[in-house]
Amino acid sequence: MQIGTPLSSAAIRVMLLGSGELGKEVIIELQRMGVEVIAVDRYENAPGHQVAHRAHVIDMTDRAALRALVELERPHFIVPEIEAIATDELQAIEQAGLSQVIPTARATQLTMNREGIRRLAAETLGLPTSPYRFADSLDALRDAIDTQIGFPCIVKPVMSSSGKGQSFLKCADDVAPAWDYAASGGRVDQGLVIVEGVIDFDYEITLLTVRAIGASGQVETSFCDPIGHIQVKGDYVESWQPQTMSAPALALAQDIARRVTENLGGRGLFGVELFVKGDQVWFSEVSPRPHDTGMVTMCSQYQSEFELHARAILGLPVDTRLREPGASAVIYGGVDTDAVQFNGVADALSVPRSSIRLFGKPAAFVRRRMGVALACAENTDEARKRAKLAAQKVTVSKA
Ligand SMILES: Nc1ncnc2c1ncn2[C@@H]1O[C@H](COP(=O)(O)OP(=O)(O)O)[C@@H](O)[C@H]1O
Ligand SMILES: [Mg+2]
Repeated sequence: MQIGTPLSSAAIRVMLLGSGELGKEVIIELQRMGVEVIAVDRYENAPGHQVAHRAHVIDMTDRAALRALVELERPHFIVPEIEAIATDELQAIEQAGLSQVIPTARATQLTMNREGIRRLAAETLGLPTSPYRFADSLDALRDAIDTQIGFPCIVKPVMSSSGKGQSFLKCADDVAPAWDYAASGGRVDQGLVIVEGVIDFDYEITLLTVRAIGASGQVETSFCDPIGHIQVKGDYVESWQPQTMSAPALALAQDIARRVTENLGGRGLFGVELFVKGDQVWFSEVSPRPHDTGMVTMCSQYQSEFELHARAILGLPVDTRLREPGASAVIYGGVDTDAVQFNGVADALSVPRSSIRLFGKPAAFVRRRMGVALACAENTDEARKRAKLAAQKVTVSKA
């Protein structure tokens, strides 16, 4: 692929659908390669809007609005950053040859809904997952738990992310509140939930997996070192790389990641979420795009997950090697307010080998991710301490 000059007729144009903190970093990497970037989000001044050539605000679940924007901008590549998109329209756009969807329109369709990806992984590919059932009513949910899944279990809307609408159930009294919460928490209310048995894992990882053109001229799969992370209420608060794993567990994890991503196809970086106990590994879910827990790679790898994604999209070679142990810790809003001010940044950056990213979101709320602290060290224990310390030193207040 030849890269032209941005803002000329020879430009390679990439459209990001979703322009949050992960999209922003992908855009920066594309900008560095001289690509013309169009950032789209549902609200004004999203993080990625601030670093793109052009910015648009549309409802990305609206098929007609999405089609009109693609026809206006004529991007060579469409790069989804979020799940809640009119993926039927992406399919139509891809089929009409209007643009290439990363990694594929089918991958975005299967992963936007927990049902699609879970059935593919467990039923088509036969991969180990938690026991699960889908339920479209409170009665059906009760029945699934009573007859099959049991307690404890986890209920999630089929369309949601970052733990939204997700409940951990210990007994029969928890079922009705979980159903109500799922109905309110799903991005697009489908009235469908998944109920999963709880996997008693030792640790969970994200295995960043890249499908990029290799020396053979064909798409090849490569893996980053595993990333360990901690989730609170289904939302990531801390991650580190590398996560130590037994050789058999790592081999199994890579095998699962390879099989899922080969099925989804296309080029790009994927975040494969896995649960590990001893040498046992379960598939949980996959993002066909950079993963929030992978922000640590901005300090721990030679090429961050964002650079890897950009390179894979453009048909360029990738290098997934770890540079040194690193960690990330999330900086939350802590307050509900517009136009926030970040205090303590100088203090935070006095932590050895630390850096921070402030996403530039126009408004904060208590559990909104506003930034991230990164730190390197000789081992992940020390890197985690540093990243957490740096994150704690940053406080958010009303400007
Ligand atoms: N079946 C399960 N067993 C144990 N923990 C789970 C299970 N499902 C989810 N979790 C926990 O909740 C987190 C978020 O769940 P996930 O399915 O990844 O939702 P999201 O799409 O919101 O990220 C996981 O990273 C894990 O910590
Ligand atoms: Mg997840």
